[in-house]
Amino acid sequence: MSPSGLSTRRQLTPLEPIVRAIENARSLDAVAKPVAKTVRTLLSGGRIKDAVSGTWLGHAVHPMLTDVVIGSFTSATLLDLLGGEELGAASERLIAVGIAAYGPTALTGVNDWADAEPANDAVRRAGLVHATSNALGLALYTASLVTRRRGSRGKGVLLGSVGWSVLGLGAYLGGHLTLNRGIGPDQTVFDPGSSDWLPAADAGQLSPGRPTRVVVGDTPVMLLKDGESVYAIHDRCSHRGCSLSDGELDGREIVCICHGSRFDLRDGSVKRGPATAAQPAFQVRDRDGVIEVRRLSPVSA
Ligand code: FES
Repeated sequence: MSPSGLSTRRQLTPLEPIVRAIENARSLDAVAKPVAKTVRTLLSGGRIKDAVSGTWLGHAVHPMLTDVVIGSFTSATLLDLLGGEELGAASERLIAVGIAAYGPTALTGVNDWADAEPANDAVRRAGLVHATSNALGLALYTASLVTRRRGSRGKGVLLGSVGWSVLGLGAYLGGHLTLNRGIGPDQTVFDPGSSDWLPAADAGQLSPGRPTRVVVGDTPVMLLKDGESVYAIHDRCSHRGCSLSDGELDGREIVCICHGSRFDLRDGSVKRGPATAAQPAFQVRDRDGVIEVRRLSPVSA
């Protein structure tokens, strides 16, 4: 306790020491870095990348698929533990559903992780343990199903129960990565920009065709002068937060330097993933040589 009476240490939640140990384990990088690099290479750009990222859906696909896997395996184990032997066939079918859903779930998850890990050591390491726990859970449930079908229900139930516990650690780390480390949410969600007109820059500051980053209120905004027009969209890429003003201009689209997402400068819409959410876009006006912006409301279809 400090002389002021303020505590110098925060009390940790029960699982925090485990998560911290994982996130500080540098030894995991030797495996995680090359794996992530390979994933990025195999899934770089194109329709498959957009499909697994959720560009077509409007947010990541992975969280929806995890519900199927975890839901199926959990339901099977609950039937095992709470139901009788007569529910064994239902339990086996649920395990089979979980196994079938595992592949696409893992693919979408590893894609999301590979895009996020270069900028964050903790994400890289926790993601590797998350994936490893889930793979072990899958192996145990698969062994459980095989064992049951060979006539040893008791051993199969035991294997499924152990698989469920291992899957629990994986699920916890998945929640941690999303909710505590911010992997997946639209990176502009907490500061979409003001709906009031605010000064952004002097008009003379802008060079034609050169993206310029300014801060309006607390919001980073990218301005681009194109002939007589000035475009303005949120500067923080909705995908993983890179600055769009560092990106490349291609006609009326800006290409993010980090993973190649393309956004339309006129309305912030996503033209190519892996981004899933549009950039907040701004109306622009010139008031006596001062460029002012205000947030453009999304247009409903
Ligand atoms: S941060 Fe990934 S595309 Fe922009």
